Amino acid sequence: MSEATEAVRDDQFVEVSYDDAIPNNVNLSDDRQLLRALESWHPNYIDWWKEMGPEGFQEADVYLRTAVGVDPSGWAKFGHVKMPDYRWGILLAPKEEGRTIPCGRHKGQPAWQEVPGEYRALLRKLIVVQGDTEPASVEQQRWLGATAPSLYDMRNLFQVNVEEGRHLWAMVYLLVKYFGRDGREEAQALLERRSGHQDNPRILGAFNERTPDWLSFFMFTYFTDRDGKMQLAALAQSGFDPLSRSCRFMLTEEAHHLFVGETGVGRTIEATCQAMKKAGITDPFDKERIRALGVVDLPTLQKKANFHMSVTRDLFGSEISSNAAEAFSAGLKGRFNESSLSDDHQLENSTYAVLRVVDGRFVTEEVPALRAINSRLLDDYIADCQGGIDRWNKVIEKAGVNFRFSQPHKGFNRRIGEFAQTRISPDGRILSEQEWQAGVNEWLVNDSDHAFIRSLMKPCHQPGHYASWIAPPRVGINNQPVDFEYVRIEHS
Ligand SMILES: [Fe+2]
Ligand SMILES: [Fe+2]
Repeated sequence: MSEATEAVRDDQFVEVSYDDAIPNNVNLSDDRQLLRALESWHPNYIDWWKEMGPEGFQEADVYLRTAVGVDPSGWAKFGHVKMPDYRWGILLAPKEEGRTIPCGRHKGQPAWQEVPGEYRALLRKLIVVQGDTEPASVEQQRWLGATAPSLYDMRNLFQVNVEEGRHLWAMVYLLVKYFGRDGREEAQALLERRSGHQDNPRILGAFNERTPDWLSFFMFTYFTDRDGKMQLAALAQSGFDPLSRSCRFMLTEEAHHLFVGETGVGRTIEATCQAMKKAGITDPFDKERIRALGVVDLPTLQKKANFHMSVTRDLFGSEISSNAAEAFSAGLKGRFNESSLSDDHQLENSTYAVLRVVDGRFVTEEVPALRAINSRLLDDYIADCQGGIDRWNKVIEKAGVNFRFSQPHKGFNRRIGEFAQTRISPDGRILSEQEWQAGVNEWLVNDSDHAFIRSLMKPCHQPGHYASWIAPPRVGINNQPVDFEYVRIEHS
């Protein structure tokens, strides 16, 4: 165990002064200026959390894991905590001695420990955009506690929320420590933008969408947190070492968010299949009868997934992008799994195949690889999404129901990039506006689907009880039973 980890561990057990109230492995107490800046940001953060964090459950005792170190075998502890008392900390993965810049024109040079002056603005922008997504998702999900399908699920929601809060801390630390006054201003602005706000929205589109129900939450954590995973993995390859180390530790937490999404959708599918079997329904499209059982028909789940996949794909930005090329060439952001790729990591002379629409037809064009960095990350993302989808399909197959989930065509329902101007069906046909309008009700959740889903969203807040539409998990959190009181709600 490193000394830094030891220090953080100790700090959990010793009654500490305010500076240690921010658990950290970055020697915060030795950097008075940074400490002062974070101390003045902290109360504003708590105000933001209370205003925009989980609505109605700030006083509840939630069985949360808290990061207390970065040692893979024991970085978290579990216990009931009121969310505003959660110990949001600053934790970086251990420093790799001798680490070099893994890609771009500075490849092989020592990784930067300070901000490289010529790339300051671009680097700050990358950190701000990543940082902005973290509080945004908390805001999007803030109403969900009231309709949680179980205490287990409620706890998972709140766990995701506090960790997104910690991810905000991780980015704010970088801004405040390395970017001086404009970093402090950006840190403040991160608390001021609001998801979906007309005048001061969050930076990226998907983070201004509503998360109106639990199916949206599970789809979000499966598909949109997975964008987070891809972005963090690419930023973990940054030549700016503090960013790399921050993102490497954030990825550890992100894995749980993806788990919540995958198992949430999986358990929903399981409940549907079980109910259909029990009622002797074999046709997955027998919507009215299936819905009457208090479960979600599988085609509606596919529509939900279609929506979340398409808006999340937009988060990757334009497939062909000179900004992305510059971030890569500058060594600020790598590709997914950069270090395990076997090319020259500079890409000056390589190309990458990008699907485009030219004159109303699909064409695959070889584009300079540097300009296709976003396209490649999107392709990697789409491949990464498939694992969970295959596992969902196994559940359906095992239940003997004839239905398969699939990913819609890359160009379906896109607002950004190559396909933004084209209407494309989930099976990849280029459509007229009229054809799109005729089909869209079958591809995306419509008003009556929404109304049905809303009708299922009733709270189920007794330990061990689960709403009709979702199966209990196989195992609880941290080996607790499934009927454990994951959230103690004050009934005053
Ligand atoms: Fe996050
Ligand atoms: Fe996340």
